[in-house]
Amino acid sequence: MEQKVIRIGIIGCGLMGRELASAAARWLHLTNAKARPVIVAVCDTTPVLMDWFTTHLPSVVQTTTDYRELLANPEVDAVYCAVPHVLHAEIYPAILAAGKHLFGEKPFGMDAEQNATISRAIAARPDLLVRCSSEMPYYPGAQKVIDFVRQGHVGEILEVEAAFLHSSDINPMKPINWKRQVAINGEYGCMGDLGMHVLHVPLRLGWRPESVGASLVKRVTARPDSTGQMVPCETWDNATITSTVRQDGGGFPLVLKTWRISPGDSNTWSIRVLGMRGSAFFTTRAPRQWQFMRYEAGGNQTWQTEDLGYQSLFPTITGGIFEFGFTDAIQQMWAAFLDELAGGDANGFPCATPAEASTHHAILTAALHAGTTNQILPVAYGDPT
Ligand SMILES: NC(=O)c1ccc[n+]([C@@H]2O[C@H](COP(=O)([O-])OP(=O)(O)OC[C@H]3O[C@@H](n4cnc5c(N)ncnc54)[C@H](O)[C@@H]3O)[C@@H](O)[C@H]2O)c1
Repeated sequence: MEQKVIRIGIIGCGLMGRELASAAARWLHLTNAKARPVIVAVCDTTPVLMDWFTTHLPSVVQTTTDYRELLANPEVDAVYCAVPHVLHAEIYPAILAAGKHLFGEKPFGMDAEQNATISRAIAARPDLLVRCSSEMPYYPGAQKVIDFVRQGHVGEILEVEAAFLHSSDINPMKPINWKRQVAINGEYGCMGDLGMHVLHVPLRLGWRPESVGASLVKRVTARPDSTGQMVPCETWDNATITSTVRQDGGGFPLVLKTWRISPGDSNTWSIRVLGMRGSAFFTTRAPRQWQFMRYEAGGNQTWQTEDLGYQSLFPTITGGIFEFGFTDAIQQMWAAFLDELAGGDANGFPCATPAEASTHHAILTAALHAGTTNQILPVAYGDPT
């Protein structure tokens, strides 16, 4: 099968810019992808960060510290943008105005107002594909939980819990970076960083909370800067959002945990659905397994654990007995975006949409207000366009 070549520009050559470039560089891993990314241009305000790209990717022919120059390049079809949150509302609309498809990092603006600016720019360019990065649901175990729900095995839902747990911030001497600064990361703090990750699957399955409460935790109030001087660390460390989803036949709690200080968890994403007829659970702590229970009235309550190995949404050369990991999830997400660009349906699981990103902002905005005022508040969903 001939692969469509999509010429990519990357804006933001930090942690995630490199991750996406690495996944693109091993595209031969995928066995029948409709399209292939070729990174032709990179942009970062720190020039030295672009050296890694030019060293490893001969396809990169443009390097620039000004994203406007990259957007003026007619050889760029689509842009992956991974910059600090405060810049999303400036750069995402500029990408669309330049006529480039956009694969943007979450959270699509650092607050609801900035997200609305991005949404207006998206509405003005319906000819362009826009998707929001959120890779964890591409783990095979996560896909199993999603299929289990979609196939109607759960019955009446008792509770859904989605969590994303980090722990490196437990070290009070970990140097500060932009993710701990309200002016750059936004008032949401940990919720802005991790909220799209925990809401992607619930929103895709149609679970929109009607109301939210939130316990917001702030434990580390100062951190060393690059010179060793202690400076304020402003953002929320942990948030536990307890929300209620209304459904025919009653509501159920949707619990969302976005924690930067969860002792021992390096990057633990999980989803657990508990129901009257079936339950399912996946955590990246056990990356090749998922757990489920089928229940009939009066029957046994037995959780089963299945070793899935490497059963990915987009087929690859990896043997089915092997493990799937973070870098694979990133590549599968990329594959979903490019498949849509090539006219496909992302094998049934497209990347997070701009509407889902806007909905997550409505939830986080309500959660922030609820958490800081100690109330249960309704979520005000607007028109996503
Ligand atoms: N999907 C995920 O799992 C995941 C993980 C981490 C971060 N992220 C998201 O990725 C984005 C970037 O985070 P990161 O961890 O890569 O941060 P980072 O700080 O490692 O990288 C950001 C880069 O943007 C560059 N930059 C800043 N201003 C710029 C400008 N005007 N033009 C061009 N480049 C500019 C910085 O120099 C830096 O290299 C954020 O939106 C974040 O939420 C996603």
